Amino acid sequence: MSESKRYTGLIEKYRDRLPVTPDTRVISIGEGNTPLIRLENIPATTGKQIDLYVKYEGLNPTGSFKDRGMTMAVTQAVAEGSRAIICASTGNTSAAAAAYAARAGITAFVLIPEGKIALGKLAQAMIHGAVVIQIRGNFDAGMALVKEVAEHAPVTIVNSINPYRLQGQKTAAFEIVDELGRAPDFHCLPVGNAGNITAHWIGYSEYAGLQTAACAFCEGQCRYPSAAVTGSRPVMVGYQATGAAPFLRGHMVDHPETVATAIRIGHPQSWDRAWSVQKESGGWFDECTDEEILAAQKLLTEQEGIFCEPASATSVAGAVRDIRSGRIPEGSSVVCTLTGHGLKDPDTAIKQCQGGMLTIDANLDAVKAAILDSLA
Ligand code: F0G
Repeated sequence: MSESKRYTGLIEKYRDRLPVTPDTRVISIGEGNTPLIRLENIPATTGKQIDLYVKYEGLNPTGSFKDRGMTMAVTQAVAEGSRAIICASTGNTSAAAAAYAARAGITAFVLIPEGKIALGKLAQAMIHGAVVIQIRGNFDAGMALVKEVAEHAPVTIVNSINPYRLQGQKTAAFEIVDELGRAPDFHCLPVGNAGNITAHWIGYSEYAGLQTAACAFCEGQCRYPSAAVTGSRPVMVGYQATGAAPFLRGHMVDHPETVATAIRIGHPQSWDRAWSVQKESGGWFDECTDEEILAAQKLLTEQEGIFCEPASATSVAGAVRDIRSGRIPEGSSVVCTLTGHGLKDPDTAIKQCQGGMLTIDANLDAVKAAILDSLA
């Protein structure tokens, strides 16, 4: 009889590299283990020889990479006896917090910017039973409030300032190295709070047996020192939306604006850490306009069959531009993280497809004509 080993989430998979003990009650919904997809059609449009992959984090249980950090943060919160968690969110963190709190049997409070969160994310937070608090302000205002209120109320913050979040999120880098057999040459991500780029760097560093100043967890004394699994780390490249690009401006931005609402953030929480990542990896930050972001989202759907939300497409928009210009040299292997699923934001997707739907009478002739016209 063949022995089947059911996949039960990233904490079980990478238990020896995560802050859990044999007795820890793990709060998991089977997150992680997302596909690393080699792009087949987009590389040809660059005119360059390039090995381009996307890590499709939209296939996590709640449809975004946030599940990686949330399984760890909620597991820890429960271990500490916490009965409630809280976060500010542009949407995905709130969806993940709501789901993992439901799984754990605790309460989630989520602060979201009124009118600026994608429909799917709002639906998730509400249906999982979170206490959804809309604020008349943006993510940055919400984050400031969450930090303040956590000092006065018995709630655990599960934003990425909670170091357990990044511990969970670092496993994305482990999976990539495990699958490729080595680290890629470049890793490109969309950047909002810069937690995810930091978490990836922590993961890559750990697998390379190297320390990083970006890790808040062990304060320079890595808890998980071990023989290097791989001999190199990638160059880390972070892309921001032009209207919300503090890393490009060199200072905080007070009124961030972008169609990619997930990264509509002007005051990144992992500012110093992300600069450490940039310096240690020899990487850079760049910006993409909303038009470039939406074009990349469409390119992925139409040429590769992969549907990600706008913020996620920022990584591909920037990477393709840097591949074309040669800043990312020919012959490189490149991984782009697609942070969230396209179904998170159906409104933006539909808006991009004006005129894409035919309306006809319900009879055979009309359907036939519609097909023949379309093929002509
Ligand atoms: N992509 C998506 C889809 C996101 O939801 C986020 C962040 C990012 C990229 C940026 O990641 O902040 O670690 O640099 N979303 C947070 C939220 C802010 O509340 O869901 P980061």
